[in-house]
Amino acid sequence: MEEIIPGSIIVTGASGSMGKAISMALAAKGHPVIMACRNPEKAASVKGEILSKVPQAHLQLMQLDLASMQSIREFAATFKGTRLAGLLNNAGTMPARFSLTEDGLEQTVGVNYVGPYLLTRLLLDEFAPDAHIVNVISLTAKYAKIDEDFLHKGPEDFHQLRTYASSKLALMLFSIELAKRTSLHVNMSDPGIVASDMIDLGRWFDPLADIFFKPFCKRPEQGAAPALAALETGSTAKLFKRNKCLDLQERFLKHPLAGLLWQQTARLTGLSVF
Ligand SMILES: NC(=O)c1ccc[n+]([C@@H]2O[C@H](COP(=O)([O-])OP(=O)(O)OC[C@H]3O[C@@H](n4cnc5c(N)ncnc54)[C@H](OP(=O)(O)O)[C@@H]3O)[C@@H](O)[C@H]2O)c1
Repeated sequence: MEEIIPGSIIVTGASGSMGKAISMALAAKGHPVIMACRNPEKAASVKGEILSKVPQAHLQLMQLDLASMQSIREFAATFKGTRLAGLLNNAGTMPARFSLTEDGLEQTVGVNYVGPYLLTRLLLDEFAPDAHIVNVISLTAKYAKIDEDFLHKGPEDFHQLRTYASSKLALMLFSIELAKRTSLHVNMSDPGIVASDMIDLGRWFDPLADIFFKPFCKRPEQGAAPALAALETGSTAKLFKRNKCLDLQERFLKHPLAGLLWQQTARLTGLSVF
């Protein structure tokens, strides 16, 4: 395997719409990028596309399935002793139907929240002291609710948008807790509504949405901009949205379940509570 270049930035879901835009922008600025992707063939084609536009890009493709704790552990283990400059938890999913990951978690919760939690915590010792962690959330988190059983919901509780929103709220609470517990820059980005595969809901009206809705959504490059700004900030626990760096509302900063969720997820993933 190729050696990891010190100062690399990991981008999860680099094969997707925003992941590609983020990887391309970082590469153009001269950052070595680790493209952490689930599907190696799709990722190789995206890598080729980036290289055709940014021939000097340093891109390393690595496989990562956030629906598998084993895949996350294997991926993280390859970074021992490297000095990463950043981690962008960009990968995400919004499945139409209930399904389980190989670890028995509901897919949305596993991929959008538990996976990034485990990955980030396993990598904590491998970051340079001034490194940046950016978690891509969504405006839906604002309307979401979680309770004590959040990690163990069954099919009867599943709702495509509500489950997605709660997974993003959990990712937000994780970001806030991590910012309190480490001296790294831990921030969030909200891309807005972006014309990507993600907003295909897997319903009969998707073709209509392609015609009447998607043209009014942001382009992936526009959705990527707040994440790129968050990777350069000197602040922590902030929300990057449009071209602004915002303070979070008190109801998130002092969420009553944030500490409990941190502990429950640590136990679930076999990590210490610190
Ligand atoms: N689009 C929007 O309007 C919007 C709004 C708010 C927030 N977001 C967030 O922005 C982020 C990027 O989404 P996008 O709009 O660019 O969607 P996208 O084009 O569908 O990209 C999603 C990426 O996540 C990857 N992914 C999905 N499941 C994975 C898994 N189990 N393991 C590893 N990677 C996995 C996908 O991999 P494959 O290429 O293999 O499918 C893809 O690369 C997501 O976190 C999303 O929730 C999007």
